[in-house]
Amino acid sequence: MFKKRIVVIAAALLACQALSAVAADTKQVEVMHWWTSGGEAKALSVLKDQLKQEGYAWKDSPIAGGGGEAARTVLRARVASNNPPDAMQMLGFSVQDYAQQGLLLNLDNVAAKGGWATLIPAPIQRFSKDDGHWYAVPIDVHSTNWIWANKKIFDELKLTPPQTFDELVADADKIRKAGYIPLAHGGQPWQEATIFDSAVMSAGGPKFYTDAMVNLDPKALGSKTMEKAFDQMRALRGMVDPNFSGRDWNLATSMVINGKAAMQIMGDWAKGEFANAGKKPGVDYLCMRYPGTQGDFIFVTDQFATFKAGDDRQAGEYAFAQAVMDKNVQAKFNQVKGSIPARLDVPSDGFDECGVKSMSDMRAALKSGTMVGSFAHGQAMPEASKTAVYDVVTHFFNSNQSSADAVKQLVTAVENSK
Ligand code: GAL
Repeated sequence: MFKKRIVVIAAALLACQALSAVAADTKQVEVMHWWTSGGEAKALSVLKDQLKQEGYAWKDSPIAGGGGEAARTVLRARVASNNPPDAMQMLGFSVQDYAQQGLLLNLDNVAAKGGWATLIPAPIQRFSKDDGHWYAVPIDVHSTNWIWANKKIFDELKLTPPQTFDELVADADKIRKAGYIPLAHGGQPWQEATIFDSAVMSAGGPKFYTDAMVNLDPKALGSKTMEKAFDQMRALRGMVDPNFSGRDWNLATSMVINGKAAMQIMGDWAKGEFANAGKKPGVDYLCMRYPGTQGDFIFVTDQFATFKAGDDRQAGEYAFAQAVMDKNVQAKFNQVKGSIPARLDVPSDGFDECGVKSMSDMRAALKSGTMVGSFAHGQAMPEASKTAVYDVVTHFFNSNQSSADAVKQLVTAVENSK
């Protein structure tokens, strides 16, 4: 009798323990991302704090590697072993790919309650939804057609923001002669692709960019205009230092911050690094649109997709999605990250001059219908084609291939990837 009672009590205790373990677990949201640089990590803490206020702990699963290639590989493995995180940072077509496999948690209710449909620009929503349903929530809007310049070097050499690509080439010459590296670059395929975004836009403008990079029109891909984009890449290759191979993007940004290099072509997450180093736009550094892309807006939107991780986790995932869209979070997060809010109702107060410019560029592009997705960051063409074009661009950048040959290879690579 006594023995039996002990067994019952022990079993009850165990059950209690198990229950509280589950309770603890459901009060926490696991978030996977690749925001590990100084500026990125700082921005993320804004979201972490908000989630905490909503009563959930943040389980951090960072996978280092700019652009997210490594993180996406880890995600695939976790999904394959049926152990996805609650939320994952995603770019472009990935959301739809996972949604179509039935793996994502539907966010329609949260979206309706929050009025997302009217708050988020249509080109951004396109990557939050599949088949009319919400599966991801956007936290930011970046753009890639930027140059970040060291103001002291520009002042010393009496340079002003180059308006044409030829001017950029002439400036780079002066910079090199003065003993600085003209262009800080990290030789990783995604960084070369990021520069290519700008080169294609500069060579042909938004309609050409859309024909080539979004519609994958063989005529545009194989055109003389595309050759010009590769010509620009060749000229840019001549502006980098010999140690560029494999360098992380934020280390390239540091070269501009420290005055070793004069410029970096990079999305405005680079601004988060300047800010994190205490640098101010217009004082320590300059932000300018890549020559020939003034007023154009090549966007990258970071979104968080929520995975079906079990009924008991839904409440946490909904709370997380709400936190991402919180108006205050969108303001503060983006001021630190270098991007602009994905909600259109966040005022520009508190954003620096580059942020204000980005906001007005996006609004203008939205009006004229020329807001185009970044090829480099998966928001222009599906993954298979993106990978094929990455190979062509990186091969070109790291060889002596002619622009005419690169264009031919581009057409074939895209055709084969379809
Ligand atoms: C991009 C991402 C940006 C930035 C960058 C470097 O893919 O969209 O937010 O973090 O990678 O890590």
